[in-house]
Amino acid sequence: MRKELDAARAAGRTVGLVPTMGALHAGHRSLIERSAAECGFTAVTVFLNPLQFAPAENLDGYPSDRAGDIALATEAGADLVYAPTVDEMFPDGPPVTAVTVGGGLTDRLEGAARPGHFEGVATIVAKLFALAGPCRAYFGEKDYQQLLVVRRLAADLSFPVDVVACPTVREPDGLALSSRNAYLSAEERAAATVLYRALLVGARGPGLRSRNAVESMAEVIAAEPLARLDYAAVADPETLAPLDRAPALGHARLLVAAWFGRTRLIDNLGVHT
Ligand code: PAJ
Repeated sequence: MRKELDAARAAGRTVGLVPTMGALHAGHRSLIERSAAECGFTAVTVFLNPLQFAPAENLDGYPSDRAGDIALATEAGADLVYAPTVDEMFPDGPPVTAVTVGGGLTDRLEGAARPGHFEGVATIVAKLFALAGPCRAYFGEKDYQQLLVVRRLAADLSFPVDVVACPTVREPDGLALSSRNAYLSAEERAAATVLYRALLVGARGPGLRSRNAVESMAEVIAAEPLARLDYAAVADPETLAPLDRAPALGHARLLVAAWFGRTRLIDNLGVHT
């Protein structure tokens, strides 16, 4: 990958990088298409990163479709698909080096729910950035906290990488596309639309019948019998510091997470007032 990307840059092309864990869907496709539109050479990485899964999380059950991934990536405009095995990625065995993005960015929300998760993400993304070299790297707002973690990591460690945020791609009924949606039963799939519905209610702004947005979102999710709320939050869009309510003037991010059976889904929405 490094050789190919060096050659592309030497030929005067801008390199676009789209890191993924495979099982590609239309959300990933939108990132690849954006990169292909903005960059002369697009590299998609497919690596199911064991570092970011806790032992109890279902790494082995994660959907995988190598041939389908290559077909989708190529059709979307990828010039290169890099899909290493764990042994290729870590020939010396599991890494003993880790990248930690500390502070408030990682100790709340997904960081609190999934200890060690962001360290696993940051370590692999740093490695991919080091392999790729100067590039534009495309990340989805679907994983909003991850996007902020990656931005901060690139800035703090001076990677020659411009992190580009891409909007969340949704099903027609509002459910954000996710590889994990494949785990849902038909009933859970129908119930999962509650996440986006809750975000829309939260986005109606402060003082909805004198309740704050956090309570409003939590109520919507509590009313869905197949959903079990993990968190509903209103946060500063840069630091993720909790806000009690959407500010009267300015920007906030609404974030929700809930369980549907054994599947945990997340979603988020920006509000601008
Ligand atoms: P993965 O879940 O495969 O997602 C790869 C990229 O696709 C991420 O940037 C994610 O935010 C984006 N994405 C997923 N669903 C999306 C949707 N519905 N709309 C828009 N973008 C979407 O995120 C990871 O992999 C990993 O943590 C990774 C960054 C590759 C590190 O291992």
